[in-house]
Amino acid sequence: GVEAKIAPSMLSSDFANLASEADRMLKCGADWLHMDIMVRHFVPNLTIGAPVIQSLRKHSKAYLDCHLMVTNPLDYVEPLGKAGASGFTFHVEVSKENWQEVVQNIKSKGMRPGVALKPGTPIEEVYPLVEGENPVEMVLVMTVEPGFGGQKFMPETMDKVRVLRKKYPSLDIEVDGGLGPSTIDAAASAGANCIVAGSSVFGAPKPAEVISLMKKSVEK
Ligand code: DX5
Ligand code: ZN
Repeated sequence: GVEAKIAPSMLSSDFANLASEADRMLKCGADWLHMDIMVRHFVPNLTIGAPVIQSLRKHSKAYLDCHLMVTNPLDYVEPLGKAGASGFTFHVEVSKENWQEVVQNIKSKGMRPGVALKPGTPIEEVYPLVEGENPVEMVLVMTVEPGFGGQKFMPETMDKVRVLRKKYPSLDIEVDGGLGPSTIDAAASAGANCIVAGSSVFGAPKPAEVISLMKKSVEK
């Protein structure tokens, strides 16, 4: 469906207080929690992995929307499934050969498969994954170069969101990077319904207001 899902990126949270930060976001109206898994060989940054997801799962029933910035997503399917991840989004750039196997494995571990693409990757590359007999259930259109929070939204990526939305009216389309009050309308009107936001939510004096403003923009 195309329900609005607002997903604060926990990359911008205080990792030393992850459970209470997660709770705080849910109380502020977050639908999902976005978990950025980076291990230095797809992006130049290192964040968290399955052990942290497992620890958070013990404290929270929230939908954990995991974004895998790794070159070998297949290796993470089983550990993340066991850890209690909800969504598993891998990058198309590293899965050209084995995406069918990746998707099948994600589903067999009870997670929801999604595919992500970088700003420079043409949208056509995800069509086979959306149209196959074992399709992904979400496309994540990166709106910054993956790797770090706090970067500037790239408006040119909205062409891809528009094309996707026109082609697939009921697909979950997620955007990630530089989203906040000043960019949400561009993303929502292009057709994005799942919104990841790190610095704009965690940096706000009242995160609940930012979350509700973004939700309204998607719903209008
Ligand atoms: C970037 C990550 C994002 C990041 C977004 O590679 O995928 O999820 O945390 O942060 P903001 O919203 O600050 O751009
Ligand atoms: Zn992300």
